Amino acid sequence: MSDFEVIIYEKQDGIAYITLNRPKALNAYNIKMRDELYEVLGAINDDAEVEVVILKGSGDKAFCAGADLTEFLTAPPPVFARQARFARDVWGRFLSVEQPVIAALHGYVLGSGIEMCLCCDIRLASDDARFGLPEPGLGIIPAAGGSQTLPRTVGVAPALEILMSGRWIDAQEALKIKLVNKVLPRPDLFPAAEKLAKKIKSFPQPALRAVKQAVWRGLDLPLAEGLALEARFARQLLTK
Ligand code: COA
Repeated sequence: MSDFEVIIYEKQDGIAYITLNRPKALNAYNIKMRDELYEVLGAINDDAEVEVVILKGSGDKAFCAGADLTEFLTAPPPVFARQARFARDVWGRFLSVEQPVIAALHGYVLGSGIEMCLCCDIRLASDDARFGLPEPGLGIIPAAGGSQTLPRTVGVAPALEILMSGRWIDAQEALKIKLVNKVLPRPDLFPAAEKLAKKIKSFPQPALRAVKQAVWRGLDLPLAEGLALEARFARQLLTK
């Protein structure tokens, strides 16, 4: 895999670690980061040694402070920046990674930061995490899936309130509305993510991958079709 500039990729004992690595810009999501995430997620999906993935941010202050405003709302113009982001569907890549993905969230989790973690399977947050979707206040809407993934995760009313008011929420509220699975003291965040990753990877891989697909794909289906999908996965596992 090529050398990365704005992410760090590490792999150890079946766990892949992706670290967003622009700490001076609060890990703002720029085009370079999009390209590097796209590449690394594709490689992870094809890597039989990787059983589980942890996504985190570097530095003290942020998991990710959203889209890079210097690229995004200035030059190139928003419409070009948007097209550039759509050109590579990194969000689809997040969802199509077969291995479980855990997001470890600290500090600012804004805009694309929330949208990115909503494409992960499990979200752990430190008690200093703050979540917000500033897009409508900037005259745009979330376009990295947030208008769809947030209501699917927390329900319509909380999602609309967060989007329409621009209100940021703290980690405890994020837990209450089920935006995150668990809140931990900051020093415990990464150890907890690793502990969970180790637990997850102790389970049989085919079952983990099947349950991930059954849940995510089933969300888009009527119940009867979802049940049929589940039955197909169950049969496949029995015949392996
Ligand atoms: N894009 C580009 N750079 C960003 C950024 C973003 N989304 N968010 C923060 N940065 C940069 C700042 O410009 C600053 O750079 P500098 O040191 O060269 O001046 C650095 O990160 C630190 O940010 P700063 O604003 O000084 O930190 P803070 O603790 O005072 O405030 C925030 C943190 C998150 C409240 C503030 O940076 C902010 O509002 N960022 C924009 C959030 C946003 O609207 N994201 C886009 C969503 S679509």
